[in-house]
Amino acid sequence: MSRIKIFDTTLRDGEQSPGVNLNKLEKLEIAKQLERLGVDIMEAGFPASSKGDFQAVKLIADTIKDTSVTGLARTTKGDIDTAWEALKGAAEPRLHLFLATSPIHMTYKLKITPEQVIEQSVNMVSYAKQRFPQIEWSAEDATRSDWNFLAQIIEKVIDAGATVINLPDTVGYTTPAEYGKMFHFIRETVPNIDRVSLSCHCHDDLGMAVANSIAAVENGVTQVEGTINGIGERAGNAALEEVAVALKIRSDYYQYDTGLKLDEIKRSSDLISKLTGMYVQANKAIIGRNAFAHESGIHQDGVLKNTETYEIITPELVGVNSNTLFLGKHSGRHAFKDKVESFGIELTDDQLKEAFQRFKQLTDHKKEVTDDDIYTIVMEIKTEAQAVSKYELKSFQVQYGQATIPTATVSLVTPQGKTLQTACTGKGSVEALYNTLSTLIEEELKLLDYQLNSVGGGKDALAESHVQLSVNGEAMNGRGSAQDVLEASANAYLNAVNRYIITKQSVKPKEVVKQ
Ligand code: KIV
Ligand code: ZN
Repeated sequence: MSRIKIFDTTLRDGEQSPGVNLNKLEKLEIAKQLERLGVDIMEAGFPASSKGDFQAVKLIADTIKDTSVTGLARTTKGDIDTAWEALKGAAEPRLHLFLATSPIHMTYKLKITPEQVIEQSVNMVSYAKQRFPQIEWSAEDATRSDWNFLAQIIEKVIDAGATVINLPDTVGYTTPAEYGKMFHFIRETVPNIDRVSLSCHCHDDLGMAVANSIAAVENGVTQVEGTINGIGERAGNAALEEVAVALKIRSDYYQYDTGLKLDEIKRSSDLISKLTGMYVQANKAIIGRNAFAHESGIHQDGVLKNTETYEIITPELVGVNSNTLFLGKHSGRHAFKDKVESFGIELTDDQLKEAFQRFKQLTDHKKEVTDDDIYTIVMEIKTEAQAVSKYELKSFQVQYGQATIPTATVSLVTPQGKTLQTACTGKGSVEALYNTLSTLIEEELKLLDYQLNSVGGGKDALAESHVQLSVNGEAMNGRGSAQDVLEASANAYLNAVNRYIITKQSVKPKEVVKQ
């Protein structure tokens, strides 16, 4: 078996998904889970793109030690210097430099000649080499580039010190056979190619990202880039869990192995769905809710006689465990702590106290508290940015009836500690609630997206809501859970506003609104 390295870019390309914005604590929790999953390299962000990205990459680089941490940079000294500042504390500082090589990008986007693209790439690889031991150079839009030009520039950047060459299918345009041929050509043509590793990076615009990645592996590529759940720009990136499980299940055919701990896939997928608000569809390969469900009578009959009749992947292989031990009303602090530790998550004493309290509140309404419920509570606490002051929901009441006008009354504590109260109407319960909250909050708020999910099944399931709000013109995501759907919705709304406040640290409360 040849070992294929997994380069995860969930925190960079994945975070570029429309509507996703993670705070640095959420990014850190994802990074820790990626480390548990066993990815070889994680791209923690694009340090020069924003202050927030810089801080998140630095925090991850300083914390994660068993996985190589990298950051993206354009071929400029400024980007490289910023990336170094963010990554210098990493166990193995690694830089990911990119520049476009296709005629359309060079002519219209960069407005520079192919010779200038070569010069800029070579100069910046040499510059970065003064600090970074590992440098990946990517030819953006490689699959729409001239192969001879690619061969020419690759030879030069290798001489300048690049250690990995990545040829992305930036717009998801290529096909498996064509992508495979491109790597074959590069390996045959570039004289110094044996000095580097080759990497593939595929987008899913035509639904071929995973197939293209595997075709690249069959043609000498030893590193696959992608994201968990396949999230990413536009139609997303190659789903790493699909690549890894395909190689494992068809090891009779493919002689390649990844270092991923496959039974951490479910946990990784759930965490990323939860924190990004991008839930996977029920029929998603490997990890969708229906991936192990057998509906037709003939299939069910076959599976009962021998699971392998219709099941090529066992749920346990990817960490889908049906016989979890529930906790309930009588479970003590010790059992709760053991459960949290079994997730590989560390809590401070205060966080544990808070989590246990929320768990106990849940057991008042829910007989069997599942792993998913506890994980949701714990993650909420771990990723709650500690604002000095923020909005807090004191109480609310919603009146709804088909023949009446839905009305919500909310009592809210402002970041300045004032309690405000008012009531508003709406076309439905959620609108009435959100209209009331928005009246009490000074910022200019507009709801862009709203989602409601249940954590696990059953009528007593915990509700989880995700919203995207425009706060003073800036898109902010919010997440909230509660046993009641309206309370979860209110929590998500306030979470988005509080995230804005934490980022800006400025808020002007409205005058107390009289009822
Ligand atoms: O898709 C792409 O080309 C990229 C590069 C920045 C590597 O994400
Ligand atoms: Zn990409």
